[in-house]
Amino acid sequence: MASKISLSLQSWLTGLPPLSASGKIATIGSLVNCPCSVLLLLVLLEGRRPGGEGDRFREVTDNGEIRGRGDETSSETAAFAVGQFDLGEIDLRVIITGGGGFLGQQLCQKLLVRGTLTGETGVEEAIEEIILFDSHFHQGVSQPTTSDLPPIRVEQFIGSVDSQEAVHAAVGKHRSNTSIFHLASMVSGECEERFDDALRVNLDGGRNLFEAARELGSKTRLVFASSIACFGGDAMQEPCTDHTKLTPQTTYGMTKAICELMINDYTRKGFFDGRSARLPTVIIRPGKPNAAASSWASGMFREPLNGTVCLLPIRRDQRHPMTGYRTVIDSLIRIHELPSTLIGRDRAIGLPAMSVIPHLAEQALRQVAQELEFSLGSIEDHPDPRIQGIVDHWPVAVDGSRALALGLPSVPSLQTIIRDYLEDFQPRGG
Ligand SMILES: NC(=O)c1ccc[n+]([C@@H]2O[C@H](COP(=O)([O-])OP(=O)(O)OC[C@H]3O[C@@H](n4cnc5c(N)ncnc54)[C@H](O)[C@@H]3O)[C@@H](O)[C@H]2O)c1
Repeated sequence: MASKISLSLQSWLTGLPPLSASGKIATIGSLVNCPCSVLLLLVLLEGRRPGGEGDRFREVTDNGEIRGRGDETSSETAAFAVGQFDLGEIDLRVIITGGGGFLGQQLCQKLLVRGTLTGETGVEEAIEEIILFDSHFHQGVSQPTTSDLPPIRVEQFIGSVDSQEAVHAAVGKHRSNTSIFHLASMVSGECEERFDDALRVNLDGGRNLFEAARELGSKTRLVFASSIACFGGDAMQEPCTDHTKLTPQTTYGMTKAICELMINDYTRKGFFDGRSARLPTVIIRPGKPNAAASSWASGMFREPLNGTVCLLPIRRDQRHPMTGYRTVIDSLIRIHELPSTLIGRDRAIGLPAMSVIPHLAEQALRQVAQELEFSLGSIEDHPDPRIQGIVDHWPVAVDGSRALALGLPSVPSLQTIIRDYLEDFQPRGG
């Protein structure tokens, strides 16, 4: 069984190079008797700002040495580091699986700014540590410069959710006051192409995590990022509601629906306190298109904002439920904070969404571009029958009235979502 390992991240954690960069990933499986599939990236930064003079990066090398950025090899050994930096019990620990992904990173940033989370005690508790669990990370985490709160330790843990050992090593055992956000997932397009992998990651991975959460005790709150891809086929209503039968027509949707049901049952049994957020498509995802069948939904905003052409794979009259990423992050936190009794036996809450068609997206883009005086790239038709075929079996509208009644945020306007994106990611206008 893998040991519990933590390095104290005393101050700012930032500026990690891509993982492919040599020498920045520590494989310490042998050190802690983990299977080789368990990779831990241990980082210690004591700098004051990203790239600042005081930044320090420590890595544990394959032969057990600790190296600092630009330092000579330290005489400390990894074994020493394990003993020296073991954190023991801490107040509130937050684990985010998929912590290297789009929403995982946004959630981490939001929690760092807030510094607190409310759990079963009903009062705000200071977060002492955030563990980001992912199969890979593209970048480090920047501590907010605006917060007056004491810095929160952030640990990047590299492992796969389908490895029981990795999941248990990250989650630990019998540690009270842990909150889990389960965001790790293969995306829809990948699941359709790779059925067996989808089951291994999304189903076995989910179950591994649920079992690890169960060992933490019944008060452990776990929020799962589900999807409107749970809906599909003849049972779909317009709009789909929290009472619509789940008959997904994709492998991705099937795995999400099963995890929702597992969470209902683990919660009913009192194993942990689970909640699922049934997400519509989240816009605007920065960076490059991904393998999600809904990737075009962000692309039709992002590419024009970058001054490049968006090739639209779906029909111009395709309606699709969407919401903004800031709203989703606020919703995940709100769902975590809801008193358990308010949610009742159906732990899956459908988030509100607006039905967007490409024409509406173009209108909103033009309005913001005119207001902020930059030119846009165009949206051009480039039909893709595979993508259209998947989207055809997704709902075109969802009803989020239960979420709203529970105090979750409503959907912002497209213009607001575009402005938020420009503020957070500042793409280059054409
Ligand atoms: N973004 C959306 O539009 C949307 C809509 C509905 C539901 N969701 C769900 O929300 C969650 C987060 O979405 P996102 O947009 O941040 O996706 P993302 O792809 O950016 O993040 C998912 C993360 O999971 C990680 N991951 C994949 N396989 C893994 C494995 N075997 N072990 C550990 N980590 C693994 C990936 O590396 C990635 O960083 C996902 O569960 C997704 O299904 C997202």
